[in-house]
Amino acid sequence: MDSRDLPRKGTKYLTFEGREDIGSNPTDNPTMGEVIGARFGRRDLMRGMLAGTALSAIVGPAALLSSAGEAEAAPKAPKPTKAAFSFQEVQHGVDETHHVATGYDADILIRWGDPVVPGAPAFDPLKQTAAAQSKQFGYNNDFVGYAPLPLGSKSPDRALLCVNHEYTDEEIMFPGVGVEQQKAKFARLTKDLADIEMAAHGGSVVEIRKVRGKWTYDPNSKFNRRITAETEIAITGPAAGHALMKTSYDPTGTRVRGMLNNCSGGMTPWGTWLSAEENFNGYFWGQVADDHPNAKSLKRLGFPGEWYNWGQYHDRFDVNKEPNEANRFGWIVEIDPYDPTSTPKKRTALGRFKHEACQLAVGKDGTVVAYTGDDERFDYVYKFVASRKYNPKNRTANMDILADGTLYVAKFHPNATVEWLPLVHGQGPLTAEKGFPDQATVLINARLAADALGATKMDRPEDIEVNPKTGRVYVVLTNNNKRKPEQVDAINPRPDNQWGHIVEIIPANGDHAATKAEWQILLRGGNPKDPATGAQFHADTSENGWFACPDNVAVDNRGRLWVATDQGEAWNKASGTADGVWAVETEGDLRGLSKMFFRVPVGAEMCGPCFTTDDKTLFVAVQHPATDGVDQWEKFKGKLSSFEDPATRWPDFKPNMPPRPSVVAITKKDGGVIGL
Ligand code: FEO
Ligand code: CA
Ligand code: CA
Repeated sequence: MDSRDLPRKGTKYLTFEGREDIGSNPTDNPTMGEVIGARFGRRDLMRGMLAGTALSAIVGPAALLSSAGEAEAAPKAPKPTKAAFSFQEVQHGVDETHHVATGYDADILIRWGDPVVPGAPAFDPLKQTAAAQSKQFGYNNDFVGYAPLPLGSKSPDRALLCVNHEYTDEEIMFPGVGVEQQKAKFARLTKDLADIEMAAHGGSVVEIRKVRGKWTYDPNSKFNRRITAETEIAITGPAAGHALMKTSYDPTGTRVRGMLNNCSGGMTPWGTWLSAEENFNGYFWGQVADDHPNAKSLKRLGFPGEWYNWGQYHDRFDVNKEPNEANRFGWIVEIDPYDPTSTPKKRTALGRFKHEACQLAVGKDGTVVAYTGDDERFDYVYKFVASRKYNPKNRTANMDILADGTLYVAKFHPNATVEWLPLVHGQGPLTAEKGFPDQATVLINARLAADALGATKMDRPEDIEVNPKTGRVYVVLTNNNKRKPEQVDAINPRPDNQWGHIVEIIPANGDHAATKAEWQILLRGGNPKDPATGAQFHADTSENGWFACPDNVAVDNRGRLWVATDQGEAWNKASGTADGVWAVETEGDLRGLSKMFFRVPVGAEMCGPCFTTDDKTLFVAVQHPATDGVDQWEKFKGKLSSFEDPATRWPDFKPNMPPRPSVVAITKKDGGVIGL
């Protein structure tokens, strides 16, 4: 989800002045720009002239080409020794449908409204109910995870697909709602519609099979499951049972209904699905008094979001009436997809903030490290080191590994090192005198704790992924149009960063649990032919190969990176092409070479991506077709989509059928490995 411009995505006329949910980090933690600015001079920094000096040691050697503003300072990279990805690129562009590279099929696997749980009715957009939606595939599919069947196998052709349903776009979901200023629209959103929205959130588990080269899902599988904003979820870890977690519904502080705004996530080696609650502030309205114990934390998280009117019908979404309910969202949720009766668990040990994703690295000795980022302009990158080790022979023993451990936040130094700072009660500034009376408070108010530690303010941390081949960790920074010239630093080197960049963390000796690591920049988004962007791709990247606003990523078994983009409303300014998937070389002479592989229909965002165990299928999730920036598309000039008149009716293209977020299965026509 890209919420940088508006409090509610896909809806143009809606904002309450001054209620942007992003950029709410008010601390004066020094940016590294101030540190290096003292060394190199602020004007040089502002002009990006450090590429030839300090930054050249930080940026990977072969990634330095093509940035017109910096090419002269960068060493000339050797010519590629072999062709990169062999596919013929998709071209930049925008239209009503999706496109995949020549020689590939991109087939719709499952759409919003398709039956998931046995007994679910067929989708009828004119007769929607919450009861039906709670059994059907939810809205706005984001994360896609692949859990092979049977459990413990590496099956490439049968699995449980684990899919997040991040949020809803009611103006194109429901007849008669349309696009209007938020308050006017709320007046038309009845309790029935709000309850459908709640049922369209959460996640789905669906069994899928590949038969004769084509994927289908089984609507009758016993594994299938829907999780919604009403599903009972356990609260585990240090914050469970704490006073700040207790509500009138749950005086024990140990159980909560639902998960919200689940964006990306990750899969664990023990076969569970980690689902990341991101912009949870958007679901709440109401205010607490300035002297309320939650006031500082709610402000830091951008409350009240007021993107939805659920608080009109459900007191728990009104922080004035139920002030602690907000503390029960913003966590990583662990779900066992192999047991549809299992209770999902919120893992409070991993901290509370706007989690984008959660990716695990397991050391040779079984040490479990979970990387996770906080997607807001000027927020932080975190990692969690579990207390207990992974046991590959005992799944039961692994199921609560994420209940206990140490959370760290990243401080990126200009000398290309990373320091991981522990969020531990009693250490450093995290004391009762400073507002952190116990570990639960540190975790519930993790942003405030990380502020106090002096973490590095980043350009919106999105997905994080570990390269299984090299052990390097990709940290995807999607954009930050609020960073001022005096705020640039080595790791966030561009002011008004509209295009994002991708950083690599290189753990010392491959030890992800270590408190020190190194970092470098893999690439900088934007058009490398335009000096104003300061973009950096490999010199052989074509006019279709560059991209802007990287978001979700996947790494294939060869260690190559597949980048999905989300430019939001700003797609036309950022690149002029619709979002998509680009394949990026990560090593050798071709490092930083990128090629366009897939393109979404107008107004959509690219999510997933997810490979099967044999890399012969790439699942991608097309989120919110017909919404973002459709008024800038020449065929829909100046208009915004509604149920009655959407910019595209992808993927069905039937009269009266609205656009439907869908998961797409991409396979090679010859049955081979994707990208070879
Ligand atoms: Fe939901 Fe940060 O994207
Ligand atoms: Ca995202
Ligand atoms: Ca990912």
